[in-house]
Amino acid sequence: MAYPRWKEELIELGKLGRRNPVRTESFADLDLVNGLYRMEGTKESKQSKEYLISRMKEAGLQVRIDRVGNIFARKEGKKTTRGAVMSGSHLDSVLNGGMFDGPLGVISALEAVRRLADQGFENERPIEVVAFMGEEGSAFRKVLFGSFVLIGKISTEEALTIKNDGGITLKDALDNLRLRGNFTLDLENVEYFIETHVEQGPILDKERISIGIVENITGLTWVNATLTGQENHAGTTPMNARKDALVAAAEIVQFVNRRAKETVMALGSSTVATVGKMIVHPGAPNIVPGAVEMGIDIRDADLSVMQNLQKEIIAAIRDLKDRHGVESRIEIPFEHPPKPCSQEVIQAVAKAASSLRIPTKRMNSGAGHDAQNMAEKVKTAMLFVPSIGGISHSPLEWTNWKDIENGIKVLTETIKILAQQ
Ligand code: GLV
Ligand code: MN
Ligand code: MN
Repeated sequence: MAYPRWKEELIELGKLGRRNPVRTESFADLDLVNGLYRMEGTKESKQSKEYLISRMKEAGLQVRIDRVGNIFARKEGKKTTRGAVMSGSHLDSVLNGGMFDGPLGVISALEAVRRLADQGFENERPIEVVAFMGEEGSAFRKVLFGSFVLIGKISTEEALTIKNDGGITLKDALDNLRLRGNFTLDLENVEYFIETHVEQGPILDKERISIGIVENITGLTWVNATLTGQENHAGTTPMNARKDALVAAAEIVQFVNRRAKETVMALGSSTVATVGKMIVHPGAPNIVPGAVEMGIDIRDADLSVMQNLQKEIIAAIRDLKDRHGVESRIEIPFEHPPKPCSQEVIQAVAKAASSLRIPTKRMNSGAGHDAQNMAEKVKTAMLFVPSIGGISHSPLEWTNWKDIENGIKVLTETIKILAQQ
């Protein structure tokens, strides 16, 4: 028997950006080394967007692309001037990522709209499906990039000049893909936003609950630091005459981990901090490292706790000069504050799930999402489905099809409620 269309679409999207582009249909098909590399601006990102746009058009939706590559598909409402109900997520992936982080929310929204059409449901408010540009920050180093522009935190003009790791501007990357539009969506015309996503943590899987209703989304910031010491011969440079950038960086790795743990112990906070990126130059055993690029991720549900830890980390990096003779250059590419979700949308999700007799759990999101940007401007909530073993940002990310189906059911009912509100 053929798979339902949404399942087939997730499997097809799951091939794009995989080094071995095979169909991945079950947990047993997962492969630790062949995850998705579908960064914004790549050929594979283009393929995924074109695939989505075709499905959107087949569904009879009006597709528009904005000036930074966010994709919108509209089902007109009976009251064309009422604020829309928007739902969706992103198609780009982290490096070596899984196939659900992002696409699941986009395809769930598309499927919900198709089911409403199949049922002959006449929505009062317009409904918009969205695929945000560059959510993961894996190419342009700006996490939640497309929604950040949409809410006006950075201008379109500035966003288009930002370069990816290969030195290509967002403008050129989108032009190369022919996926830069000229549409501008005014959020004044959007009333509600709801994002379906994999939990990316262990709670729902452990408790065997299909649906999480998110109440708060974590704050999230990065510190990018470049440490510059003195590249030199590993055999002839005495130990006391070195400016070893990697030894200095190693101190920061320890500092970040220790201070995050101490903060949790002291405050009982949700603090997490990670040095997830370290590029050593020139990177040879017989050369004292001359420079290190570090990427540090800091998160907390409490903005001031997150900002204090960020300040401490920056001070520790500056201090390296005295002890290691290492210069530092620091960049804060973004700071997304924590955001509570809208009680009105939370209630709508709860009501939808209860009408379907699907159990739910209230929870917080430790991952960042476009929803937290959207929450600054429109009434927003999120709906989570379980991640097996709590694994995500990994090729071993998996969610059972049955849970995805439950997520789509609850989303469809929620949109139905909100569209008539
Ligand atoms: C976004 O996926 C993040 O939480 O890093
Ligand atoms: Mn992600
Ligand atoms: Mn995501």
